[in-house]
Amino acid sequence: MTIDHPNFGRIADDRLIIFDTTLRDGEQSPGFSMNLAEKLRMAEALAELGVDVIEAGFPIASEGDYESVRAIAQSIQGPVICGLARSGRADILRAAEAVAPAQRRRIHTFISTSPLHMKYKLRMEPDAVLAAVGDSVTLARQYTDDVEWSAEDGSRTEPDFLCRCVEAAIRAGATTINIPDTVGYALPQDMARIFTMLRERVPGAERVIFSAHNHNDLGLAVANTIASINAGVRQVECTINGIGERAGNAALEEIVMAIRTRPDSVPAKPGVVTENILRTSRLLSTITGFDVQPNKAIVGRNAFAHESGIHQDGVLKNAATYEIMTPESVGWTKSSLVMGKHSGRAAFRDKLRAMGYGDVGENQLNDAFRRFKDLADRKKVVYDEDIMALVDDEVMRDHDRIRFVSLDVHAGSKAKPSATLELEIDGVTRSATATGDGPVDATFIAIRKLFQHEATLRLYSVGAVTEGTDAQARVTVRLEEGGKMVDGQGADTDTIVASARAYVHALNKLLVKRARTEPAALSA
Ligand code: KIV
Ligand code: ZN
Repeated sequence: MTIDHPNFGRIADDRLIIFDTTLRDGEQSPGFSMNLAEKLRMAEALAELGVDVIEAGFPIASEGDYESVRAIAQSIQGPVICGLARSGRADILRAAEAVAPAQRRRIHTFISTSPLHMKYKLRMEPDAVLAAVGDSVTLARQYTDDVEWSAEDGSRTEPDFLCRCVEAAIRAGATTINIPDTVGYALPQDMARIFTMLRERVPGAERVIFSAHNHNDLGLAVANTIASINAGVRQVECTINGIGERAGNAALEEIVMAIRTRPDSVPAKPGVVTENILRTSRLLSTITGFDVQPNKAIVGRNAFAHESGIHQDGVLKNAATYEIMTPESVGWTKSSLVMGKHSGRAAFRDKLRAMGYGDVGENQLNDAFRRFKDLADRKKVVYDEDIMALVDDEVMRDHDRIRFVSLDVHAGSKAKPSATLELEIDGVTRSATATGDGPVDATFIAIRKLFQHEATLRLYSVGAVTEGTDAQARVTVRLEEGGKMVDGQGADTDTIVASARAYVHALNKLLVKRARTEPAALSA
């Protein structure tokens, strides 16, 4: 069976559409918010990864969400750009306006269909919900031929009512039908049963793409997605590193590699460039400040590490003894020496291009190059990871109101630690000195003197970008203000400088967050 799709044309039976919602469902979760520049950078990486659809945000949620969906629609080539909307007119018009500049665009509209959600969340009768399904899809179709409709809490919806809603959506012109397991309650057999039923019972089902959207509350999001594919789903909704509400969404890298590794069991073809997986995962960690756990499948530090002698011996004789896929197939390479202190600006620019930072502007390049030279003076060996950490520090922070300038710290076992810090705030450089219980404490007090705020420090953690005593420290700082949580990151060979950068990054994110609407008020 082949389907004619407005944006993808004739879709072969085994083609799998990868719908990435890192920038919407992923970004919506606590601590993961990104600013415009960060979202654009992430969207570029997703396009290079080869995803088919980027759900770029929820345009009605805030001015910032609208602006970033529109900016992505304007500048990202390749994937279909999608905006989310509830079933109301204002939501749909806002989403339509935001995705309008995209070469290929989609509106994704949804409404809850489970008894629990209809009664308590929507306070609507089923007939009114059914009418809203048809009306919302009809309205969205006036702005694009590619309309996705989702039954929120679909996995807990009564089967007959779900069939009626899906039929109404198809009749109104939906081209993709998505059934989310919104609360991560379903087991693989539940999802398989739901999709099999819909495909058998709903008139017109053969004309649309069915889509799976699974949350990970029981750790089953990827298993449920694979079961859905085997029941006829041809689009999967997922996020990089599995980020998302609560326990997260199905992880893109796990779905794609499960399919690549087991074509005998999962007859589907995603168009992803798997070699770009690791770098996309790392970029997201750098932007959000959340590293994946070491044992995370595919992208965790230990995913291809063999510690036991028996395993090491087997891998040396034949890697297939203990590796079901090659590390290179998902982008792992040995840390490579990239450049030294004698490397010039042109070589540095070439290196950035090769690492996917082709769009770096002149000023950003100059700043990043200055920091690279400084790093190369202090550090014997400069790795790709080092360059990535410092470039992300510079490039991602272009729109920041507060910028780190310099830090002078005195510490040790005798005198009380003190820090003299210079920050540029809204273009003006200011300086303050403070003492504290330790050099980090003194530095953070100096930041508070320069930029007063009420946020509470909730987490402070230090890791290393690479190995060795001269490695750059990567510091994460989590701040909370009025229930809003943000994580900032900073890297430097000096741990205290990295700490100051991380704190300043978190403060900048907090400023962005202050301007946003509470997500709860708009929760999907
Ligand atoms: O989990 C969910 O139900 C959603 C919908 C808005 C698609 O994210
Ligand atoms: Zn979701």
